[in-house]
Amino acid sequence: MVDVLLGLQWGDEGKGKIVDYFAPKYDIIARFQGGPNAGHTLYVNGQKMVLHQIPSGIFHQHIINIIGNGVVLDPVTLKRECDAVAAYGIDVRKNLFISQRTNLIVPTHRALDKASELQKGDAKIGSTLKGIGPAYMDKTGRNALRVGDILSPSFDAQYKELRTKHQTLLNNFNFTEDISAAEQEFFDAIEFLRTLNIINCEYFINKSLAEGKKVLAEGAQGSMLDIDFGTFPFVTSSNTISAGVCTGLGVSPKQINEVLGVTKAYCTRVGGGPFPTELNDATGEELRRIGSEFGATTGRPRRCGWIDLVALKFACMINGVTQLIMTKADVLDSFETLNVCTAYKINGQEHTEVPFQMSGVDIDPVWKSFSGWKIDSTSIKDAGSLPETMTTYIDFINKYVGAPVKYVSNGPGREQIVAI
Ligand code: GDP
Ligand code: IMO
Ligand code: MG
Repeated sequence: MVDVLLGLQWGDEGKGKIVDYFAPKYDIIARFQGGPNAGHTLYVNGQKMVLHQIPSGIFHQHIINIIGNGVVLDPVTLKRECDAVAAYGIDVRKNLFISQRTNLIVPTHRALDKASELQKGDAKIGSTLKGIGPAYMDKTGRNALRVGDILSPSFDAQYKELRTKHQTLLNNFNFTEDISAAEQEFFDAIEFLRTLNIINCEYFINKSLAEGKKVLAEGAQGSMLDIDFGTFPFVTSSNTISAGVCTGLGVSPKQINEVLGVTKAYCTRVGGGPFPTELNDATGEELRRIGSEFGATTGRPRRCGWIDLVALKFACMINGVTQLIMTKADVLDSFETLNVCTAYKINGQEHTEVPFQMSGVDIDPVWKSFSGWKIDSTSIKDAGSLPETMTTYIDFINKYVGAPVKYVSNGPGREQIVAI
């Protein structure tokens, strides 16, 4: 049985914390897409830790953590992360497994990402510049190097061939930055990667499932950043939705059980692109300040706004969400009034469906207002103690999107979560 946990907005919904909370219920936690563009925050012994490529179950030594074939893996970042995890006494050689089919991010992918963004100028995506787009382009372009290749004696030659292809592209961009230091670091990290568990992942997972083991697939980014269904072209380059689990791990759709969708009680986005409910005012700043809304990977300030139910309902539909988890409810504790967006007004007409093209379109949110709860919710432990104003807010969201909120997270700590 495979449960899926993923973000329903534009990323940073608090997936890391929630995976860490649910981890003890599972035997295996697996990342199925994305790469070091992700930044998943969790707290270990009270200390903040941000994971980029390693699944958020890594701090449970007995749980197997898998980096699946759908991920694009940067060995340099991975080595750094493994060192950071080892400082907590975790031996990644025991509980981290990497698919031999996982595609590699090479230094020229990062250079190409940067060159492409520079060329786009004001129209840039706002990429994390981790080489994600170019790495997935090499996958679909059938040029990529995969983790299994590092075990072959011809790896250096394969690398050189790809490097030469990339150099032509970089020349076209007039990109002249020296990347030799990054290349040295890459080869050191490849040496390290050779010492980790590289597996035939699809067989490993399916065998584990046949033995009755429980798998949690951990999404990165969010559904509105999905390459097919997000706010294209301001998206990432992978399928972030539940369908990505099957191709990203090699499991059948029949194995998918619960789809746990994580949403903030409000909304954020980092990078460029449409964000209909964005608040470019004091309220937006207040959300950023109280919610500490700064990127876990790039440190960039996150754009903030009210929850967008049009987009959330769409995300629930394409993912088949069975349970909602609402995070950062405590961030709304001090607000007098809360707004939720129930429709988009475009050219004077109200729409409740996400339009094909949102970029460059004037979208006016239609708001419904709620009274805030105006109490400190951070120490609430049971559903019965939630203020009525909060349950009214949650009930409305349940009904609108057609999926039940089953958990409310009321602080960053592992224990700050209320089951409903
Ligand atoms: P992810 O990428 O979805 O894992 O989310 P990030 O880690 O990038 O961003 C979520 C941020 O919110 C992190 O700093 C978390 O520690 C924090 N966080 C998660 N849940 C809660 C919550 O319920 N309340 C508050 N105040 N912070 C939370
Ligand atoms: P987690 O897993 C928030 C955004 C970038 C940019 C766009 C494309 O922590 O939720 P890319 O580097 O993929 O080429 O960037 O996607 N983005 C994220 N935003 N959280 C993330 O991951 C993100 N990963 C990518 O800011 O707008
Ligand atoms: Mg994040």
